[in-house]
Amino acid sequence: MNENESKKGMNRRQFMRSSAVAGAGLFLSPMVAAQTEGGKKPDDINVAVLGAGAQGRILLESAVKIDGVRFKALCDIWTAYNQKNQTRFLKAYKHIVNAYVDYQEMLDKEKDLDAVIIATPDFWHAEQTVACLKAGLHVYCEKEMSNTLEGARKMVEAAKETGKLLQIGHQRRSNPRYRHCYDKLIKESAILGRITTINGQWNRAARPFLGFPKKAVMDQATLAKYGFNSMEQFRNWRWFKGLGGGPIVDLGSHQIDIFSWFLEAQPNSVMASGGTDYYDKNTHQWYDTVMAIYTYETAKGMVRAFYQTITTNSNMGYYEAFMGDEGTLSISESAGRGAVYREPTAPDWDKWVKLGFLLEPKEEETAESDAVVDARETIAPPSYEIPVELKDPYHKPHLVNFFNAIRGKEKLNCPAEIGYETAVAVLKVNDAVEAGCKLDFKPEEFKI
Ligand SMILES: NC(=O)c1ccc[n+]([C@@H]2O[C@H](COP(=O)([O-])OP(=O)(O)OC[C@H]3O[C@@H](n4cnc5c(N)ncnc54)[C@H](O)[C@@H]3O)[C@@H](O)[C@H]2O)c1
Repeated sequence: MNENESKKGMNRRQFMRSSAVAGAGLFLSPMVAAQTEGGKKPDDINVAVLGAGAQGRILLESAVKIDGVRFKALCDIWTAYNQKNQTRFLKAYKHIVNAYVDYQEMLDKEKDLDAVIIATPDFWHAEQTVACLKAGLHVYCEKEMSNTLEGARKMVEAAKETGKLLQIGHQRRSNPRYRHCYDKLIKESAILGRITTINGQWNRAARPFLGFPKKAVMDQATLAKYGFNSMEQFRNWRWFKGLGGGPIVDLGSHQIDIFSWFLEAQPNSVMASGGTDYYDKNTHQWYDTVMAIYTYETAKGMVRAFYQTITTNSNMGYYEAFMGDEGTLSISESAGRGAVYREPTAPDWDKWVKLGFLLEPKEEETAESDAVVDARETIAPPSYEIPVELKDPYHKPHLVNFFNAIRGKEKLNCPAEIGYETAVAVLKVNDAVEAGCKLDFKPEEFKI
């Protein structure tokens, strides 16, 4: 049987499952697209959500507004709260789902699924992703891809073996504002000149442990079955060794991913200082404070990148700043933040403004003398604006990219291999804190 003949024998779901191999830029053929099943339109995708907590809900809020996405099943172990609430939320959008506690049971019973969105705690990702891929589903799995490199490796291998799509939830990779910065400012114009340094941070204010309604307490046997020793740990899993990776993994992975993306390089060393300096080490097993320095030997020369995450003070929030000898790009996922600063000695940027890569700095009315203005601009050069803004919720473009990749219309913006590279770079920070010395990366560590 040749490829076309074999497609004729497939139903719509089988075709959807097989057509998106590695998002190879394939388009649905009109012949196959015309086939419909049970009132489904050709581009409809049947989806389950696995892990319907805080992030699961955020993803659902975007996904229900994407054309052709039909939720059929929801799996969450917290029946009295998240499972109930998110099932109700979906119902309000006319997605009637079967609810499950056990994901294996969901895979056994739901035979008409095309894809699954996984937003369980990090330590569940590898097992669940591999099982879903092997069940023939395309997977959108939240970052951190896994809390262990072994788990992350198995996920990449399963995606390769099955030919199913695996998108990792580093959503900035699909954010049009970030994509504009990469395509136009970093690649096409190299407007920053020779990038030498990066600064990034995610600073948060001190906050108490997440609580839970007393009437929604899970029994000890259920908690233990799913890897938790108490409700406190279940709610605050990211702080516990073996379950999450602490703030450097939880928050830092988003931004350290951008470092590699924009530099088109993987780090060759990292050193880090960190610890649980503020909270109780028994409850906050991972470090509440981490400061890391990476080195990258890029095609254009050495880059040193500083990254900090603290959880006691939110000053300056979160952003990444790429600094070159002709300018600085400061960007954040946080809406409305971000600018490009031209070094006074750099060639003028009129050409890039005319091409629409940047918007002119806003002229400020000033009574200051020229000398004072010159002095101020040396310290804080005029800021050009980034002309592209994300109008949608942060995660929507990444979900749209995933669903369009399933339809064969786009390539994944963050396939498993990229998620793996980021996991290698980020998980080593915790090792470096523990080792108390600089750790090197070998290029082959980033490859499967
Ligand atoms: N991309 C982002 O911006 C972003 C933001 C926040 C969280 N996340 C990621 O999303 C994931 C979930 O984080 P969260 O903040 O929603 O956590 P959460 O604790 O609020 O939600 C996790 C949910 O998974 C359920 N669960 C736990 N084990 C399960 C299992 N074995 N089977 C089925 N359900 C299970 C829990 O009952 C809970 O409802 C994490 O990987 C996190 O890193 C990503």
